Amino acid sequence: METMKGRVAVVTGAASGIGKALSLAFAAEGAKVVLADVEDEALTETRKEIEALDATVLAVKTDVTDENSVGDLCAATLEAFGGVNILCNNAGVGGGGLVKNQQLVDWKWVIDVSLWGVIHGLHHFLPHLIEAEESHVMSTASVAGLMAVPGLAPYNAAKFGVVAIMETLHHELARDEDANVGVSVLCPGVVRTNIATAQRNRPEHLRRQSNDAGSASAKAPEEARSRNAAIAAALENGMDPGEVAAKVIGAMYDNRFWVLSHPELLAEVNHRNQELANLENPTLISSFTD
Ligand SMILES: NC(=O)c1ccc[n+]([C@@H]2O[C@H](COP(=O)([O-])OP(=O)(O)OC[C@H]3O[C@@H](n4cnc5c(N)ncnc54)[C@H](O)[C@@H]3O)[C@@H](O)[C@H]2O)c1
Repeated sequence: METMKGRVAVVTGAASGIGKALSLAFAAEGAKVVLADVEDEALTETRKEIEALDATVLAVKTDVTDENSVGDLCAATLEAFGGVNILCNNAGVGGGGLVKNQQLVDWKWVIDVSLWGVIHGLHHFLPHLIEAEESHVMSTASVAGLMAVPGLAPYNAAKFGVVAIMETLHHELARDEDANVGVSVLCPGVVRTNIATAQRNRPEHLRRQSNDAGSASAKAPEEARSRNAAIAAALENGMDPGEVAAKVIGAMYDNRFWVLSHPELLAEVNHRNQELANLENPTLISSFTD
């Protein structure tokens, strides 16, 4: 992408963490920013922060799990600015727990937000990105989309899916002479955000159920709680989201597909790939294992 000045950038999950940092960075580059998030108060707060930078900003309360809500976000963007140049499918949630302890609602919530959210974004925005003279689409996956971190199966499944979709899109758009759309996938390591409290946005009907009919929602089992506590502690020492946003902006200018916040983690990804190449059973050297 040559310039972001005057371009229209849509960011989902824009009210916190990486999405908020991306939104601030696009505003600093002179883009018009569309903030989409399910969390009302934080969304308003972020809009005010960006307005204070004298940037053009639109905030649209959006639930990325809802196809119609993302459709409304797209319509609001086109109505306000007449087109779109940058889409960041960034909203995502996660939580820990062994596969044997997952309830179906655990799978459903994580995959609805972190995978279907990306699919809804592409479904509604891609035709308009292709129409634009120059555009770029980025989706936030994770290193958990490149290697299977134990205790995070729904998250891994969603993030492997995001990587697969974006890689496919990259190949397809590279062959499409009518499109001038750059494609990137962001695979962060540990970043200092609010993802450890992602449950704050979990809808009531997808909360864990107790086995006793009629009783209150079930707590996560002890192993999941201690895993989540370890993730929360690691996040406190994670990378600043502003640093991650700067890497994304750089990748968009340079038209780079892979954006890794912590490239040193590739050693672990390469270990997996080498075992696959040798048809050996997977083993872990991961810093994410306990
Ligand atoms: N923080 C990390 O260490 C890390 C590592 C790898 C990947 N990621 C990914 O980065 C992305 C951003 O997460 P973050 O770490 O900044 O977390 P965060 O919790 O700080 O921000 C996520 C935002 O998404 C919003 N959101 C949640 N559900 C939504 C929904 N249904 N519709 C719209 N918005 C919704 C939240 O309100 C929040 O503002 C996610 O996709 C996450 O999986 C984060």
